[in-house]
Amino acid sequence: MKLGNRDIPTPYFLAPLAGYTQLPFRRALRELGGMGLATTDLVQATMLLSQRAKSLELIATSSDDKPLTVQIFSGIRAELVGAAKWLEDAGYQGIDINMGCPMAKVTGSGGGARLMCDTSSACDTVSAVVGAVGIPVSVKMRLGWDLNNITAPALAREFEQLGVVAVTIHGRTRQQGFHGSVNLDGIAEVVAAVDQMPIIGNGDVRSPQDALDMQRHTGCAAIAIGRGAMLDPWIFRKLDDISNGRPPRDPENPEKLAFLKRHFELMVEQHADYACLLFRKFAAWYGAPLGIPEQLEDRLRRIESIPIFYELADQIGEQMGQRKSSTATALIKTPSGPVEYW
Ligand SMILES: Cc1cc2nc3c(=O)[nH]c(=O)nc-3n(C[C@H](O)[C@H](O)[C@H](O)COP(=O)(O)O)c2cc1C
Repeated sequence: MKLGNRDIPTPYFLAPLAGYTQLPFRRALRELGGMGLATTDLVQATMLLSQRAKSLELIATSSDDKPLTVQIFSGIRAELVGAAKWLEDAGYQGIDINMGCPMAKVTGSGGGARLMCDTSSACDTVSAVVGAVGIPVSVKMRLGWDLNNITAPALAREFEQLGVVAVTIHGRTRQQGFHGSVNLDGIAEVVAAVDQMPIIGNGDVRSPQDALDMQRHTGCAAIAIGRGAMLDPWIFRKLDDISNGRPPRDPENPEKLAFLKRHFELMVEQHADYACLLFRKFAAWYGAPLGIPEQLEDRLRRIESIPIFYELADQIGEQMGQRKSSTATALIKTPSGPVEYW
């Protein structure tokens, strides 16, 4: 498919997940095949403009990490414009504006989902960014702030007129946070509101069937998968198989182990010993789908050094499939309490 002047190989995209969808994870997933477009974690425009090391790390990329879009956020229009220009000058090929983040630290300064509350100001912001760069600009948003303020259809229609190349819709309101289930009718209303601009459906896709159901129900042009990619890193390949008339290929245990090691190896390449700390949280997602026995997942969630990882990987290879629970540990520990305090 095409997004502006960009050729995107498949309509199955990786949704941004702050803290996870960084270069090593993207590369490891791309090697499995089937992924269309990846987007970086959200990067604060101000921090990027002041060249903070953390922001530069978030936009780190490599020649095999294409196509890639960088997602930026800010409540200050001039800073979004400045960051977009900087990214274009630095050679990046696409910008995504975050209008969906529900976290208080993002919405409190006017960014993320807060932008959806003032449609006129949101349009001015988007228009300013689109007018400032030659590379394609997209927007990711929710259905609206809450059920009384469903602004996504009107915003998407306006954004199309302003030259935005695609809009990703997470089918929940900001007020819902990550609770309840995704509203496919809500995504379908956004699809119906636009003329030609591709709408990318997002939310709760955990299996190829979920993606196909979302596409069928909403008519969206593409699907963005976030948590589902950690629960099944082969989901893009399976979807690509299905859309090419092939039976979806399930990975065997050796391929699962190879993926675990490859992801870690790519993290070490970028972060050296610090990779151990960063890898811990992936273990809570990977344990169940990769069939890692509970006690080994528990060790993986506390790994202290690179040699220990490889010792554990050997043990995992010997005991793979001996896991009792099929529920990922990460799914048991979801954020709770009022969304205002996340
Ligand atoms: C840990 C976490 C981090 C996220 N970070 C971002 C982000 O940086 N930018 C963004 O637009 N959405 C972010 N999201 C939202 C996801 O991109 C996606 O919209 C949401 O998780 C629903 O899709 P899923 O069910 O496929 O994960 C994040 C979600 C989670 C759970």
